[in-house]
Amino acid sequence: MKVDISKAGVDIQPLKAEVADALLKLDKGTGEGSDFIGWHHLPSETTDAFLKEVEDAAAVLRAQTDYVVVVGIGGSYLGARAVIEALSNSFDYLQKDRKAPVVLYAGQNIGEDYTAELLDLLKGKRFGIVIISKSGTTTEPAIAFRLLKEQLEAQVGKAKAKDLIIAITDKARGALRTLANQEGYKTFVIEDNVGGRFSVLSPVGLVPIAIAGFDIRQLLKGAQDMEKATASSVNFNDNPAAVYAATRNALYRQGKGIEILINFQPKLHYFTEWWKQLYGESEGKDGKGIFPAGTDFTTDLHSMGQWIQDGVRSIFETGITVKNPNRKLTIPTDAANLDALNYLAGKRIDEVNKMAELGTLLAHTDGGVPNLKIEIDKLDEYNLGQLIYFFEKACGVSGYVLGVNPFNQPGVEAYKKNMFALLEKPGYEEATKAIKARL
Ligand code: PA5
Repeated sequence: MKVDISKAGVDIQPLKAEVADALLKLDKGTGEGSDFIGWHHLPSETTDAFLKEVEDAAAVLRAQTDYVVVVGIGGSYLGARAVIEALSNSFDYLQKDRKAPVVLYAGQNIGEDYTAELLDLLKGKRFGIVIISKSGTTTEPAIAFRLLKEQLEAQVGKAKAKDLIIAITDKARGALRTLANQEGYKTFVIEDNVGGRFSVLSPVGLVPIAIAGFDIRQLLKGAQDMEKATASSVNFNDNPAAVYAATRNALYRQGKGIEILINFQPKLHYFTEWWKQLYGESEGKDGKGIFPAGTDFTTDLHSMGQWIQDGVRSIFETGITVKNPNRKLTIPTDAANLDALNYLAGKRIDEVNKMAELGTLLAHTDGGVPNLKIEIDKLDEYNLGQLIYFFEKACGVSGYVLGVNPFNQPGVEAYKKNMFALLEKPGYEEATKAIKARL
């Protein structure tokens, strides 16, 4: 993996000392929120026995189901989806003779139509459930799980259903832990010191990714190598997490308040969604923070391209470049050449994509949009593991340089309090009265 900041237009050397300080805070656990830095050494501390346990649990669901519904929201959902979608065939759910169950998602919204349609799809089908909630009390997944559990039990019986449900939650607290113990589900623990958005390399991500048929050992190998490459002992200019964190903070200090993560590979759409949560929840607080946005190119060049090229100059771009596609496809010659594309005949699709990428980079930098480039060799487990740990580490460093606690998310509670008051949840009587008076 390479980070290229030659088109970012900022000098990062003045931030060297601040970045070194942030790296040491993470190492020594002396920064704000250090109760939540269990993710920091997760790749190197994950044992073979634990991976075997994950693989064995995944094998049970793989053997007995055609669909597995991953139920979770935010950090209990996005990491798994990011990896599974990046590695899966784009039309996976339509493939016959599949080797792994189709992974579907629920509890990441409260859409009644979405949930009803999912339940319709699963009627009479062999399905299993992975319910993921650290707190064990989050409303969205709890509603979806109640419905899915009821349907599964109706379809296969309560005794069999319990073998088709895996719960991933706190080791002792929360309603989900109580229920899982009572019902005898297979469970995995989310450690206290691993926050939701930093949990993809814990069972939260590893269990669904293994169920989908991907190599969690290679994912962790990539992350382990990146753990070494971003250690506090590595020279500033050679440490990709240090360079990325410094560059985005330098740009922020120059008034660039929006970072757009761009890709030219549609399979990375959910990787961007994962990244948005990671940086948005970690940095957007105390009246500070870069707003993390995302676009999929070239698709969004035909929608957002105008704004990026010519709109308010408050943005910078970070592009994830995938050097080599996994498939090979060339553009054919056409005798009539009515579309005038014969000049491209014989070229690979990816050569066109790469020129679109280079053309975009030059156009956007000409238009006053600083650009950072992160290049990976290809979309596979190893490279994604590297990329995940790189962004996590850089996020911790960047948050400390920004001067916030990157590991809390107090602002997420505000909508929940209002929603509970409006729904007249027991215990919210005063809040209900107060909120109703405002309507
Ligand atoms: O990063 C976070 O803390 C949040 O996005 C949570 O992961 C999300 O709210 C889900 O919480 P829980 O796992 O407790 O259901």
